[in-house]
Amino acid sequence: MDKTDARPTPPSVQVDPAPPCTLVIFGASGDLTKRLLMPALYNLSGGKLLADGFKIIGVDHNDNTDDGWRDDLTKTMQSFTTDHTSEFHPTHIDETVWGFVRDRLTFRKGDFSEPATFRDLAGALSGDVVFYLAVSARFFGPIVEQLGGAGLLKEESGAFRRVVIEKPFGSDLASAKALNAKLLAQGNEGQFFRIDHFLGKETVQSILAIRFANGMLEPVWRCKHVDHIEITAAETIGVEARGAFYEPTGALRDMVPNHLFQLLCMVAMEAPDTLDAEAIRDAKARLVEAVRPVPPADAVRGQYAAGIEHGKPVVGYRDEPNVAKDSQTETYVALKLTIDTPRWDGVPFYLRTGKCMTDRVTEIAVHFKPPARSPFRTAQEPEIEPDILRLRIDPEQGMSVAINVKRPGPQMHLGRVTATFDYGDFFRETQSVGYETLLYDCMIGDATLFQRADSIEGAWAAVEPLLRAWRDAPVEMYAAGSDGPSGADALLARDGRAWLPLGEG
Ligand code: BG6
Repeated sequence: MDKTDARPTPPSVQVDPAPPCTLVIFGASGDLTKRLLMPALYNLSGGKLLADGFKIIGVDHNDNTDDGWRDDLTKTMQSFTTDHTSEFHPTHIDETVWGFVRDRLTFRKGDFSEPATFRDLAGALSGDVVFYLAVSARFFGPIVEQLGGAGLLKEESGAFRRVVIEKPFGSDLASAKALNAKLLAQGNEGQFFRIDHFLGKETVQSILAIRFANGMLEPVWRCKHVDHIEITAAETIGVEARGAFYEPTGALRDMVPNHLFQLLCMVAMEAPDTLDAEAIRDAKARLVEAVRPVPPADAVRGQYAAGIEHGKPVVGYRDEPNVAKDSQTETYVALKLTIDTPRWDGVPFYLRTGKCMTDRVTEIAVHFKPPARSPFRTAQEPEIEPDILRLRIDPEQGMSVAINVKRPGPQMHLGRVTATFDYGDFFRETQSVGYETLLYDCMIGDATLFQRADSIEGAWAAVEPLLRAWRDAPVEMYAAGSDGPSGADALLARDGRAWLPLGEG
């Protein structure tokens, strides 16, 4: 686990380009298209993973032309080279690599609620098509109904017609069920690819390998050896310009039943029989089904007030644009989950997520039980510090293990050390914004990294008691730049535990 052990990455496995399909992007002028889809297509083009016959049709309600859209996107791609805050910040844009994507772009003006938009599209489309709904959630159902109405989801002569749906998928159990019913009235489950971008992260996908490909870890990943597990997704940014979206949404809906539950599934599900999409999705669905609905007493919500973030003053949530001055929307959630499976009998899972916190950290910390019997447990020192394994998802990518060793010196005293591994030290970095694999997998029809309806509905069911209880409940305030509200500390203190401080890897 030392950098000196780093060996050159062996040549990566040869991957074939995706089949030559047409990608139709609804929301061609939107942020997601510019910030993530185009960089992902650029990276796929750089990796020679797009076929010559690949085409992209952008649809949006504003006026534009093919050339206009190409120029707009070219400018945005260039701007990333000087924008270090963007997910994609290459030193330069390779003209040939981007040219491959740019030359395949065409634009169509169209209102998403007008049947004419879809009739026109039907005239322009044949063969394999992926429809990407890079639009606000209120359009998901209507667009799929229009696609179905125009016959665009009929899979004829062996061609595929797939639909990629962004999050949020519903805003509670009832709306998620209603949306699923709308989709399944127009096509079959296999045609719908529900995105959770956390699954596009290499470090999240790697959890399967870490758990199930290591004889040292697999046997101890259960209640006999694990005391509790923490899952954290802390951000330093506030809601920025997203107040209008965030006000009716809040941290619970924005992060928990989707992103945090995906991390939960990866860390807690049983071993799938194989690595097939359905085997993995079955294992996840069974896990989600075993999560007990969270009692409101096991959850805490908070909202950031003005504070200091990395030395700079930050306004409170209520002073952000498009946010009510008396808003009770939470920007922080902490909760305790119980999983009813023999593997996790008596092991609490503590989840937390928040905006404007001390540090940006997405990680899973597995706290092991100390050895049952140990000569190091004495009358003077009855406690042995438990081992902690941290799966570091973002922005650090790797793993760390905190264990006890002998402190050098004449006497036998324990000292604490942390062994760390970073992916970057072992593998050549590949350019990725996280959407490359998701787009590629959808084109080749691999649904492993996409969410199935049953898991989505199960996750909403687990948080339903909180959605109900929090409708009229006040939020607890925490200072921007802190580790969250004090209620979150009390939630763990009740069980004789404490959160790991943020920013200590
Ligand atoms: C999005 C949420 O889905 O995930 C955002 O809507 C959040 O509020 C983001 O900031 C976090 O994703 P990441 O990949 O930056 O950790």
